[in-house]
Amino acid sequence: MTDKTCKCEENARKKFGAEAREIVEAVGAGKEMAIPILQEIQKRHGYLPLDLLKEVCRHAEFSKAELYGVATFYSQFRFKPRGKHPIKVCIGTACHVGGAAAVLDALCDELKTEVGGTTEDGKYSIETVACIGCCSLAPVMMVGDQAIGNLDPLQLKKALKKVIE
Ligand code: FES
Repeated sequence: MTDKTCKCEENARKKFGAEAREIVEAVGAGKEMAIPILQEIQKRHGYLPLDLLKEVCRHAEFSKAELYGVATFYSQFRFKPRGKHPIKVCIGTACHVGGAAAVLDALCDELKTEVGGTTEDGKYSIETVACIGCCSLAPVMMVGDQAIGNLDPLQLKKALKKVIE
């Protein structure tokens, strides 16, 4: 009899098997536990490693497709690690009216990644958030804990340098 487990499954099992079992035992195995399980994984890793999701499904009562479906439905879940400097662009009403979409486009162009993505060098990641409470400075983004307001899409590079370097 031949072993039909592929190498990547074997590696995933070695790397995440124990952790997956521990998470499911702690949180619960039922379908209604899909979101709490995803939240626990993201709390531990900062994102959802696909191999860990696969392993979790071996111990829980939902399929990979079901868990992946839940994970992609909610914007709180990430499939890539956050950058060293997470950038959160506000898309709340005041920022939207103030040009948040143009800021977001310029930022994605500047950093050569997309919303939810992380730059190749792992330095920056881009997310969107609802109002962060600085509406009078719209449009606003947060870089780490620092809010930068009155953003001009043409001046983003300068604004980023001020807080990061
Ligand atoms: S809407 Fe952007 S800070 Fe309030």
